[in-house]
Amino acid sequence: HSRKSFTIAIDGPAAAGKGTLSRAIAAHYGFHHLDTGLTYRATAKALLDAGLPLDDEKLAETIALELDLSGLDRDVLSAHEIGEAASKIAVMPAVRRALVEAQRRFAAKEPGTVLDGRDIGTVVCPDAAVKLYVSASPEVRARRRHDEIAAKGGSADYDAVFEDVKRRDERDMGRADSPLKPADDAHLLDTSEMSIEAAFQAARSLIDAALKTI
Ligand code: DC
Repeated sequence: HSRKSFTIAIDGPAAAGKGTLSRAIAAHYGFHHLDTGLTYRATAKALLDAGLPLDDEKLAETIALELDLSGLDRDVLSAHEIGEAASKIAVMPAVRRALVEAQRRFAAKEPGTVLDGRDIGTVVCPDAAVKLYVSASPEVRARRRHDEIAAKGGSADYDAVFEDVKRRDERDMGRADSPLKPADDAHLLDTSEMSIEAAFQAARSLIDAALKTI
């Protein structure tokens, strides 16, 4: 039989908890998961490693077209400077076109997929079966990011992290091509005062309801 792939789109700003939530959902349903931020990060890292400029769209597009999605390693790509570089190349339409193409191929995997990022419900998978927009206040996100860095033994200044979160939001929401925003048919999940477990349960009931209709 040929049931089509079931796709769950999860969007939201940096440090809203969408990574943790996406992994929990993918594990629960046995679906493939792609953190699309890693595709922008890997492209940026390849440029940085080769000592190439971050403002050459043609060059960045060539790297993006060659990207192998199976080799994306979260730990290797988590560095702050890679995130900064990623948000710079993410404004380039040719880079987005190349990466969105690869992300759509991933989304078609069976039996189902979870993709998280900034433009999944609006651009990459507008026909996704379930769309979630996961947000939290900038203060809460900065606090979480700060505590995460501290837990790893790093030293972080809350005010600096807060400024960083706001700058990243401005760049992600303000760009002309595929800005971060909820799709019209996305379910909004504000995790400011919600535990991961509560967010997961809320997501689960939406997904279970959608699965019953197919
Ligand atoms: O979620 P992240 O921090 O790994 O994302 C890194 C950058 O990549 C982020 O600043 C914006 C960009 N990005 C994007 O433009 N579209 C996506 N679907 C995912 C990430």
